[in-house]
Amino acid sequence: MSRPVLKPFVGIRREDFGVILYRGGSDQIQAVHPVAAYVLTLMDGRRTLREISEALARELGRGVGDATEIVEVVLDRYADYVDLEGSHVKDLPSPEELLEGVPAEIPPEEALHGRLSAPTGFGYIVTHACPNRCRYCYAAAWRRARLEDDLVPLDVILRTVDEAADVGVKTILMTGGEPFMRPDLVDIAERALKRDIFVYIPTKSLITEEKARRLSEAGLGWIQVSIDSPNPETEDFLVGPGAHARLTTTVRNLVRHGIDVRVNSVVTSYNVGEVPRLIEWLYEMGVSRISLSPYQSPHDRVDDDLFPSVGDYAWLLDRIKELPRHLRDALDPAGIRAIENAVRVNEDELEDVVALRKCSAGRSSLVILPDAGFRSARGWRWTRGSSWET
Ligand SMILES: C[S@@+](CC[C@H](N)C(=O)[O-])C[C@H]1O[C@@H](n2cnc3c(N)ncnc32)[C@H](O)[C@@H]1O
Ligand code: SF4
Repeated sequence: MSRPVLKPFVGIRREDFGVILYRGGSDQIQAVHPVAAYVLTLMDGRRTLREISEALARELGRGVGDATEIVEVVLDRYADYVDLEGSHVKDLPSPEELLEGVPAEIPPEEALHGRLSAPTGFGYIVTHACPNRCRYCYAAAWRRARLEDDLVPLDVILRTVDEAADVGVKTILMTGGEPFMRPDLVDIAERALKRDIFVYIPTKSLITEEKARRLSEAGLGWIQVSIDSPNPETEDFLVGPGAHARLTTTVRNLVRHGIDVRVNSVVTSYNVGEVPRLIEWLYEMGVSRISLSPYQSPHDRVDDDLFPSVGDYAWLLDRIKELPRHLRDALDPAGIRAIENAVRVNEDELEDVVALRKCSAGRSSLVILPDAGFRSARGWRWTRGSSWET
């Protein structure tokens, strides 16, 4: 019997202006009508749909038939936030706690543009240190960092996680550098997961069988491993000696312990031709989702031969279109869109791109390179066209 539950990274909480439903760490924040909020707080994975409708009927003093219709409308409207057959349970605020004194209408959309009482997700740069030397790393400037200079004491970070959970933070990105350089990372992840914070870790480290087991027991649902090529020579050239063997072991150990493995692959001039085979190889190993990230260069690096050409990207898009359905479905659509954008950009379309990217305060801006090529500040370099001509 269906016991609906808010998805793991979804939260519902009270703000001054009313109730919000949100996906941690994202822009997806909705102002919710109090009746919908009442229904959503009952979606904790412990109640059946019938029980939720009965509770609502009692609350509204109406028949169960009417209440069932309202519950269906809520489910339809917030389908992206709810697992109908979720296997987890969630501790949600009680309806009384959430709704006491809340105005009986949906808060105005503008209310969401102001500052919220707390963030919905947070990022933790565990360390700037990293044993790898990826040629493309945008964090390269930090790589001289030493682990011991970075580490926040465990009790402090655990306390921070608790405080974050108390104010309604729903996701934590633990990144770096290489986050698993921190030996007690699993303890931090475990605490966050216990407090219903969705944990997101990108890594290129060796995850042993034992560590995979601990992560699985801690309740880690999924993890991101970064791999760029099915070919050991290319992977080791891009990341460092032994990387291919290490990352293959990592994926296999995680899959064996039931952790959903997603892969992020940076597309550079060196591996672009191998991406179709990479997708197939990862799928065969049990990877559930593959994100392709076009290489982005940091501000301080302008002499790259790592950028694929527009022709390379166009070739890759054609190959992606030819992939069998199951492999295409494993690709993250956002990555495909990023590659489509790289192809789309040429002199004629620059105006559109500039319009798309107009001042986004800290997100992106257009940079003109000494050789008159151009790129967005955190984007890839447009390989065709020059700023002087357009
Ligand atoms: C900076 S790393 C940190 C986590 C970990 N060290 C790793 O490599 O997975 C986060 C992600 O960014 C990707 N990345 C690094 N440099 C990049 C670049 N210049 N362009 C696009 N993605 C990049 C990495 O491959 C990885 O998937
Ligand atoms: S493993 Fe990650 S942080 Fe380390 S050099 Fe590679 S991309 Fe950068």
